[in-house]
Amino acid sequence: MNPLWIIILFHLLSIEARPCKIQKFTFDARPTPAQLSWLEQSDIGFLIHYNMASYLPVEYDGCNRNPSLVPDVKLFNPSILNTDNWVQTFVDVGAKYAILVAKHNCGFTTWPTQVQFQLTTNETITYNYSILYSPRADIDLVGSFIDSCRKAEIKTGLYYSLVWNNWLNVQDTRVQPGPLAPGQMPINQQTYESIVLQQLEELWVNYGELLEIWFDGGYSESLKNGIVSLLEIYQSSASVFNGFGLTNNSIRNIGNEFGYADDDTWLTVNANDQEDPNGEYFSPPECPTTLQVSDRWFYGGNDFPIRPLDELIHVYHTTVGRNCKLVLDLAVNRNGIVDPNHAKRYKELGDFIRNCYSNSLPSNFTCSNNNCILEFSTTHLVDRVIIREDLRSLAGASIRQWSIDGLMMWGDCLNCWIDIPSAKGQSIGNKRIILFGEAILIRAVRLNIYKTSENPPVLAQFDAYLCQ
Ligand SMILES: *[C@@H]1O[C@H](CO)[C@@H](O)[C@H](O)[C@H]1NC(C)=O
Ligand SMILES: *[C@@H]1O[C@H](CO)[C@@H](O)[C@H](O)[C@H]1NC(C)=O
Ligand SMILES: *[C@@H]1O[C@H](CO)[C@@H](O)[C@H](O)[C@H]1NC(C)=O
Ligand SMILES: *[C@@H]1O[C@H](CO)[C@@H](O)[C@H](O)[C@H]1NC(C)=O
Repeated sequence: MNPLWIIILFHLLSIEARPCKIQKFTFDARPTPAQLSWLEQSDIGFLIHYNMASYLPVEYDGCNRNPSLVPDVKLFNPSILNTDNWVQTFVDVGAKYAILVAKHNCGFTTWPTQVQFQLTTNETITYNYSILYSPRADIDLVGSFIDSCRKAEIKTGLYYSLVWNNWLNVQDTRVQPGPLAPGQMPINQQTYESIVLQQLEELWVNYGELLEIWFDGGYSESLKNGIVSLLEIYQSSASVFNGFGLTNNSIRNIGNEFGYADDDTWLTVNANDQEDPNGEYFSPPECPTTLQVSDRWFYGGNDFPIRPLDELIHVYHTTVGRNCKLVLDLAVNRNGIVDPNHAKRYKELGDFIRNCYSNSLPSNFTCSNNNCILEFSTTHLVDRVIIREDLRSLAGASIRQWSIDGLMMWGDCLNCWIDIPSAKGQSIGNKRIILFGEAILIRAVRLNIYKTSENPPVLAQFDAYLCQ
């Protein structure tokens, strides 16, 4: 027997006054196969903001809050436009999925939609506020994006805002009463809803299987049934952001755009779509945030500087490190490529993640009833650990309360476990990065588990790192 084990056993049996009965809860929310593959895809995704709004004066952030603004379709005129260039940044950060805004609030679509509809004047027209009627009629941007991603094995998603459409005079999902602004088309509510469903069908039929579908601002009750049946027919294995009530493959919005999840973030929600550790629905969170300051999503040039690397690293730890997927904005510039300064900063973030987390310290872990011990072959300086529960196991995300201590082999505390003050909490779930706040010289790390759901937790990963 390894002498370390004797030490550990000695401490477990005689010294430690750990609770020997773990408190348990009944819990039955299971991830769907689609949610599991979404969770396993990668820690980081991208959301690409590139649309008509990229060509508006900088004081506008898209067509948001300017219901009468219908930018001229001729404004969409990138000189380069290269989706392979975008993908390089996904690769540089280590992201494995990307979601393109296919239609934002101005109403402009970046794929050549063929949808036709009737105006209230009874004239039938084609949806001609699209890339096909812009100076770049030569390209289907959605198709080009999907092709570029596929070449690099990046999974794809599409964003379609159905809540706003300035061109069709729609705000908050409703066609607005009153006079039309210049450029707006007169339609009724029924026509609007039929346009939305036909365009979703185009997007979900023509571009292959999507990993994720984004409904920014949600969906309206009157569109619900139509969307549910389209999803079931065409994209039943896609996970859906803001999709609670539409599909069992829903993804929850963390609720802010700064890149922040609470210390203890849970993968489940209650019947009202509210985060709840014992909620009966599995709906894991996504944490979207921008690279540019001030929550700026479309390219803002020099008026919107980018956030410093330190801040992005902090964001990584307060999202990915807390059970939330990080979704980073890619604000493509007016030439249709990534601003070199943005690309550089994102590469720096990717370099940090690779340097810090590619190689864990050599170790093995074993679990007993109420703890898991990660053992090194010798003492090591350690400043953080990563723990993941195995969401494919029967228990899923089971842990409800835990703490961490380290086995000291020197000083006043020879061969004894010392508490690591910053390392305690409630949730683990898909991924938890636990920062110690300083490097500590230890021989083993112990995860003490105080509360779980009905089934004992199964860890998919327990690794230690030194990054400082
Ligand atoms: C549109 O067609 C309907 C049904 O044929 C008719 O009742 C209505 O008057 C027409 N509206 C206009 C503006 O021509
Ligand atoms: C789109 O169709 C409307 C209605 O026929 C027309 O007024 C408008 O000029 C067209 N726009 C473009 C860019 O072709
Ligand atoms: C969602 O899950 C419930 C409960 O398991 C099931 O009855 C329902 O058919 C599922 N819905 C879809 C769209 O798969
Ligand atoms: C982990 O276990 C493997 C297999 O038993 C062993 O070869 C290896 O040396 C162990 N590593 C450490 C760091 O204890």
